[in-house]
Amino acid sequence: MIIAVDGPTASGKGTIARALAAHFGLPVLDTGLLYRAVGYQTQLNHGDPDDASDALVACDFPDSLLDDPALRYESTGSLASRVSVHPTVRKALLRRQVDFANQPGGAVLDGRDIGTVIAPHADAKLFVTASPEERARRRHTEILGRGVEVSFEAMLADIHARDARDTGRADAPLIRAADADLLDTGEMTIGEAVQRAITLVEARTGRR
Ligand code: DC
Repeated sequence: MIIAVDGPTASGKGTIARALAAHFGLPVLDTGLLYRAVGYQTQLNHGDPDDASDALVACDFPDSLLDDPALRYESTGSLASRVSVHPTVRKALLRRQVDFANQPGGAVLDGRDIGTVIAPHADAKLFVTASPEERARRRHTEILGRGVEVSFEAMLADIHARDARDTGRADAPLIRAADADLLDTGEMTIGEAVQRAITLVEARTGRR
């Protein structure tokens, strides 16, 4: 069973994907982490994330980089969004994601193009979303909780910029697959969103 979880930044898709994986006993891949690794490696190389060849060189990042806490930084998310517009970068990361999706026994993957490009044949697809204001509010609370000073306005501007880049790129833009169930987490607690996600996947697959 393959479960595809797509959606914009700070929608809750990562938490939902991990909860689905635990519930159904499947391995999970956060594909954003791969793009974050490429973005961060580009910076380590003193390259330009907007330059396709600099970003392509960085696709050779060491596996150990995936455990680096710096990948979780807000600034690394922006670098990831910038390198992810290059078709050559998307191609370089494709095989790893497709192989993960098609492993025997199934998998859960979360990202932007799982239901459209990586696993169009997925058994269940969720498109997880919430308004930009709600996503900025969540991210803002989370970052303040880590003791980092950032204004809500700056957070909201960053969310809008990420959304515009992720949905506006020519290659594999963030878009809801025609057969994806929409899950708007705006009015839900995380527990409610997870429960709803499980119910939607059960309805699509008949699996419990
Ligand atoms: O999910 P995230 O915030 O960790 O993703 C960081 C960036 O990586 C996101 O802004 C766009 C890119 N990305 C992508 O293009 N395709 C994916 N499947 C996952 C992430």
